[in-house]
Amino acid sequence: MQVDLLRNKFGFDEAFNCKEETDLDGDLKRYFPEGIDIHFENVGGKMLDAVLLNMRDHGRIAVCGMVSQYNLAQPEGVQNLMCLIYKRTHMDGFAFFDYYNLLDVVLPYIREGKIKYVEDIAEGLESGPFALVGLYSGRNVGKQVVLIARE
Ligand SMILES: NC(=O)c1ccc[n+]([C@@H]2O[C@H](COP(=O)([O-])OP(=O)(O)OC[C@H]3O[C@@H](n4cnc5c(N)ncnc54)[C@H](OP(=O)(O)O)[C@@H]3O)[C@@H](O)[C@H]2O)c1
Repeated sequence: MQVDLLRNKFGFDEAFNCKEETDLDGDLKRYFPEGIDIHFENVGGKMLDAVLLNMRDHGRIAVCGMVSQYNLAQPEGVQNLMCLIYKRTHMDGFAFFDYYNLLDVVLPYIREGKIKYVEDIAEGLESGPFALVGLYSGRNVGKQVVLIARE
């Protein structure tokens, strides 16, 4: 379902579910035969390892999150960091609190429908814990929001 959403609503050329694939390196080689220029990292672990193998020279990785690692007693670690050297990859971390000033830039794009999004709304504060746990089991479709009260 999420894969259809990515292809059809958001207009990505290709999409796959990293949790269902057994050969992430092979998948990336198939979809990016010439390598990846820019990667937006939100999963971490095995996914990031496969991406590192498939970056183009001088490619860029924006690290936003590593959701596959948060609930592990011991994070998996990343095996392929050496690729950063010979591919001269640029990898940076980003956190939302540095970019509040860009809200005025982004909001008009959202209002005009140029930035598309899907929300998964859980009603009421009491639904918060259930919604939070659901993030880690793929229960939500779209950005998980907890609606406290309607204005
Ligand atoms: N840097 C920042 O400032 C910042 C701020 C907020 C969030 N983040 C990061 O942004 C990412 C998205 O967060 P969000 O709050 O917007 O959550 P979200 O997109 O509403 O939901 C998280 C999604 O992560 C996926 N997921 C859960 N466990 C996974 C696993 N083991 N492997 C692969 N995918 C998994 C699930 O997708 P499926 O439905 O496909 O299973 C789930 O829908 C996260 O990495 C989060 O840490 C970063």
